[in-house]
Amino acid sequence: MSALFRCPPEVLLRSAIRQGQNLTRNAQTPKLHRCLQVSPVSSARSTHRAAVCTELGKPLKLQEVPSEELCTGQKVRLSIKGCGINYSDLLMAAGLYQDKPPLPFIPGAEVAGDVIEVAEGVTSVSKGDRVVAMAALGGFAEQCIVDEESVFRMPDSMSYEEGAAVVISYGTAWLGLTRRANTKPGETVLVTAAAGAVGLATVDLATNVIGAKVIGAAGGPEKCKVVADKGAIGTIDYNTQSIRDVVKEMTDDRGADVICDAVGGDVFKQCLRCIAWEGRILVIGFAGGDIPKIPANILLVKNISAVGLFWGNYRINDESTHRKSIQDVLGFYQEGKIKPHIGKTFSLDKANEAFMYIHKRKSTGKVVITM
Ligand SMILES: NC(=O)c1ccc[n+]([C@@H]2O[C@H](COP(=O)([O-])OP(=O)(O)OC[C@H]3O[C@@H](n4cnc5c(N)ncnc54)[C@H](OP(=O)(O)O)[C@@H]3O)[C@@H](O)[C@H]2O)c1
Repeated sequence: MSALFRCPPEVLLRSAIRQGQNLTRNAQTPKLHRCLQVSPVSSARSTHRAAVCTELGKPLKLQEVPSEELCTGQKVRLSIKGCGINYSDLLMAAGLYQDKPPLPFIPGAEVAGDVIEVAEGVTSVSKGDRVVAMAALGGFAEQCIVDEESVFRMPDSMSYEEGAAVVISYGTAWLGLTRRANTKPGETVLVTAAAGAVGLATVDLATNVIGAKVIGAAGGPEKCKVVADKGAIGTIDYNTQSIRDVVKEMTDDRGADVICDAVGGDVFKQCLRCIAWEGRILVIGFAGGDIPKIPANILLVKNISAVGLFWGNYRINDESTHRKSIQDVLGFYQEGKIKPHIGKTFSLDKANEAFMYIHKRKSTGKVVITM
């Protein structure tokens, strides 16, 4: 249960994997399953490089893997230029995620690249288009096959690294700030883990699109500087400062109208103590590992709303809202309002170093694998 809620976006992977497993049992349609996995070389017409998980909890292996024929249906083949890393990728490769794809598999869920082939019936993109896509699995590779509905054209000015960094973090932040927390211009927004991928996207969108006043909380002075550079009016180093005290001081004791928390545990508890009257606290994740409890009396006394966000779940329950969140953020980029922060890039053969970098909590913004 706790593993499920620690990494909510991974529901996307679960659904894709289940689909794959069902299809394996159904001998009539084995090809889609192979789209998600590394297939026997015998069926390949050519090969490409990929970082493959061959054993759970062990380093990924750089291998030549078969390039499958394009599946029937509305499938698109991409030449991947960049793949954003999400914490779910680390969990999957470690075998710590509740649904485990059959080995071997290629991690990586959000990619940017060029369309190199489309199946019959694909209408929204064509060969040569620069796109971003949700790949479910298979992003740590030079090629992947994705559903047409998962593919979005990139703005011309967007780099592949930015494309690989924008979809999950900005899509999550945008739906959270708007649909779930109803953030208005001029309101004060407190963001925890503010230098992380989702955190920095939240700072960017709240400041530069909504026109809110953002206070960003992060661990250490370097991370706080990254948050300030993104537009926050104030920062809190929660390794050394009290979130509650600083927020109260910065808001003349009023508290923050909207609080976006991706850490949980004690950080969440501190946030509850500095929320404004009629404030909204948005539960995004539990990067710290502890799932906090909310005393209902606090909600009652200050007329507070606690709202959850599971961005990936919109893809299953309300696909148009999910798609629109991605289209919106791509539009904001095109208008020059937002700019994803790429903390570091690693080449495909350094995928294990990239995992370690995130695991050691060194990253800011998004970490991207480049091909
Ligand atoms: N709800 C959704 O739909 C949704 C979508 C995407 C991601 N998420 C979740 O949101 C959280 C943040 O995702 P992200 O992509 O922004 O991750 P990230 O870039 O890796 O940032 C996570 C940050 O959390 C902070 N943190 C606090 N305690 C930590 C701990 N014990 N171990 C590791 N990090 C810790 C770290 O920042 P400091 O060092 O500054 O504390 C770290 O940089 C994750 O839990 C993720 O599963 C939820």
